[in-house]
Amino acid sequence: MIKIDYTNAMADIIGERDGILREELNSFRHFIVETHSRIQKEKENKFYFAKLPYQDTSEIKKYANYIRENFDYFVLIGIGGSSLGAEMLFQALTWINHNEFDFPKFYVLDNVDPEKVASILEKIDIEKTIFNVVSKSGSTVETIANFSIILDILKEKIPENWQKHLVITTDPEKGFLRKFAQENNIKTFDIPKPVGGRFSVLTPVGLFPAACLGIDIDQLLEGAKKMDLICSVEEHVEHNPAYLIAMVHYLANMRRGKSIAVMMPYAERIEKFVDWWRQLWAESLGKDGLGQTPVKALGTVDQHSQIQLYREGIKDKIITFIYVEKPSRDLKIPDNIPDDISYIKNHTLHDILTKELLGTKAALTKSKVPNITITMDKLSPYNIGMLIYMYEMATGFSGYLYKINPFDQPAVEEGKNFMYALMGREGYEDKLEEFKELYKEKYKLEVD
Ligand code: PA5
Repeated sequence: MIKIDYTNAMADIIGERDGILREELNSFRHFIVETHSRIQKEKENKFYFAKLPYQDTSEIKKYANYIRENFDYFVLIGIGGSSLGAEMLFQALTWINHNEFDFPKFYVLDNVDPEKVASILEKIDIEKTIFNVVSKSGSTVETIANFSIILDILKEKIPENWQKHLVITTDPEKGFLRKFAQENNIKTFDIPKPVGGRFSVLTPVGLFPAACLGIDIDQLLEGAKKMDLICSVEEHVEHNPAYLIAMVHYLANMRRGKSIAVMMPYAERIEKFVDWWRQLWAESLGKDGLGQTPVKALGTVDQHSQIQLYREGIKDKIITFIYVEKPSRDLKIPDNIPDDISYIKNHTLHDILTKELLGTKAALTKSKVPNITITMDKLSPYNIGMLIYMYEMATGFSGYLYKINPFDQPAVEEGKNFMYALMGREGYEDKLEEFKELYKEKYKLEVD
């Protein structure tokens, strides 16, 4: 079960300067009905992510069982949409100490920071490791660089059987990784053609690692399915969680100047969920001079770091709190504590966390900072599945509101092109010239 409380984003609570009027939400009625029918038609194409809850997962589960029985380490090689979803599922849905006590241990090689890669290599036993190389394009430089290093090690240490230590998740037909897998008889999973990286967590990109880690992927998809059913029949913004999230953020952004969207969970196990959402919101909607800047915060830690700014700084933020009603365990403050601090006596840590959230919400509302609270009864695959689908649909729907294409990322390509030029890649000679023109180190301060 999830609840969305948007009371504190509304004008009757925080005033018309910062809050949204119900009439504003209602005035989008026709737009929403029209967009809703367009989305239903796009489900075979751009909105294909909406079909993913209905897929057959038997092959994923079968191969995951084989992995669980034969390997102690699972290393995902991938970046951005190809890694953040699996990391989020790992953190939210396995035991918090999984990597200390359970198997297979899970690591991600995303960055090409040599310190990070070397440290993960020091932690694993190659002979007991499965490497899942994940890339839709099959050519992302970070992924192929890390893969090249691993491949070399595998071929040296396990010359007879190195192929059996690889699973490749990629485009069904195209790209270097697909070709490599075919030539070397390596196990593969397909990423459906219409699904781009940041919308791919409910494909084998996220589902295969999750199943290998013992997460109930059927329940994850059940949650997503439930959200799809709600979002498919409910055209009214107040009954459609995805449209509601999208509309409130859009109006806060375009009509109240809230150009920053903060997500602040009060549960450490949802921190990575925020990273996943941050990419979805930023890369999908940051186009044509539009979009909100997603910012990550954590309750209660950032109460002691960010709340001063959120309350009294520029009024450019809308905040989403995420709260879990029942943690998997709790600790009680004993009653034999000094009188001076007796007000915490007999409360549990979760109770304190809850009161801190309520206090923060009240303080922000008093300062007229719009805030929404998403409550889950517990951290379960079903609830996370619902949230994933809700945010994906909210993002897709927001594309229509902002009149931009939420499914591409043209601005990411430019930096990549300059990098290819600097690496000496064939065909990028003009880019190298352009780079030399653009890149200046004119004003510098050096201190020794
Ligand atoms: O959302 C996206 O499309 C990107 O963030 C990609 O996931 C990221 O760049 C990695 O791309 P690929 O999966 O092709 O390696």
